[in-house]
Amino acid sequence: RRSFTVLGLESSADDSCAAIVTDSREIKANVVIRQDDEHRQYGGIHPYVAIKSHQSNVPLAVQRALSQAGCTMSDIDGIAFTRGPGMPGCLSVAAGTAKGIAAALGKPLVGVHHMHAHALTPFLTQPVDELPEYPFLTYLLTGGHTLLLLAEDSRTFRVLADTIDSSIGAAYDLASRALSLPPHPKGAGAALEVFCTRPIPDSELGDIVKPFVTPMRNEMAFSFSGVLSQVIIPIQRLGHNPDERTKLAFARAFQDAAARHLTDRLLKALSYCLQGHIHVKHLVVSGGVASNMFIRNRLKECLETASVEQSPPIKLICPPREFCTDNAAMIAWASMDRFQTHDYDDFAISLRPTWKI
Ligand code: KG4
Ligand code: ZN
Repeated sequence: RRSFTVLGLESSADDSCAAIVTDSREIKANVVIRQDDEHRQYGGIHPYVAIKSHQSNVPLAVQRALSQAGCTMSDIDGIAFTRGPGMPGCLSVAAGTAKGIAAALGKPLVGVHHMHAHALTPFLTQPVDELPEYPFLTYLLTGGHTLLLLAEDSRTFRVLADTIDSSIGAAYDLASRALSLPPHPKGAGAALEVFCTRPIPDSELGDIVKPFVTPMRNEMAFSFSGVLSQVIIPIQRLGHNPDERTKLAFARAFQDAAARHLTDRLLKALSYCLQGHIHVKHLVVSGGVASNMFIRNRLKECLETASVEQSPPIKLICPPREFCTDNAAMIAWASMDRFQTHDYDDFAISLRPTWKI
C-alpha cells in the first residue's frame, strides 16, 4: 500500500511553515521560515508585518518542502492547514494557499486545531514503543496558551488549568526584553534560557533578588503576568540598564518561578487523577516553551519525586525541540484521521482565531 501523503501549512503567528508527512509517520519535509528580524523593532509580533511576510514566505515554504521531500504535487493526497487559534490575518495566508492548492489538484482539504496538533505531536515523533497512552496529562506551553490538560482520546481534552492572564511564552518574551538580553535566533524566550546558562554560579549572585512568589497557590490556574511583574517592576525602578549579574539574578529567578508555578499545578493535577482513579502513565509537554531544557528538567524531577505515590511512575514525553515550536508537520499529522475517515472541509470553512480546545 502506498502511504497517504499530506502537505501541511501553518501561519498562525510569526512562523511560515510547510511540511510533508505520511500516514506511516514519515516526515518527508519540515520547513520553518521565521520572522524574528522583521519584528524585533516592534517588541512583539506586528500583525501587518507578519501577514506581509507570510504572503511571500508561505509559498516559499511550500516550494522548499517539495524539494526537500524530492516529490511533486502529484505525490500529495491531501492538504491540511491551521484553522485556528491564531492571529486572523496570519491564519488566512496558509488557509488561502491550502484552498488554492486543493482546488488546483482536486484533492481533499482539512482545517486543523493548532493546539490539538501540539498535543498530538508525540504520536508522530516518538519511537513506537514510547507513545503516550490515553488518558495522559498534557502541558501545552506556547506563546498564546498555557494549558494543563487531561487527554482522554485524540479529540477530547479536559482543561485542568488555564492561565487567567498572560501565557508562559509571552511572559518569557517580555521578561527577556525587559532585561534587554542579547537576541537569539530562536526568539526572546530561548534567549532567556540561554542567558541563564552563563557560567556564574548562583552563590556568586548573593541576594540580588529573593525567590519570586508564585501566584494563586491554592487555585488550579496560572498567572504568568504575576511572575513577570516581579522582573518588570524592579527593573523599571532601577531606571538604567542593569549589569550582567543583576540581569542573571532576575533571569534565573524568573525561570525558577515559572518552573515552580508549573510543578505546583502538576502535583495538584496528579493528586486529582489519583483521587478520581484516573490512571495516568504519561505527561506530554509540547509547544514552544517545551523546548526549554530547564523547564523539562524541573518537570522531570517533579514526576520522579511524585512517583513515590504513583505506581508505576509517570513518564515525561517531550517531542524533539524542533517539533515543540511551531511547525507544519504537527498540522499534517493532526489531520490524518480526518483524511482517513473522509471527513473533509469545504472551501467555505471559516477560520477560528479564538477556538477552545
Ligand atoms: O508553540 P510556539 O512556537 O508558538 C505558539 O503557538 O505560540 O511557541 C512560541 C513561544 C514564544 O513565546 C517563544 O518565546 C517560546 O515559545 N519559546 C521559548 C523557548 N523557545 C520558544 N521559551 C522559553 N525557552 C525556550 N527555549
Ligand atoms: Zn504553537
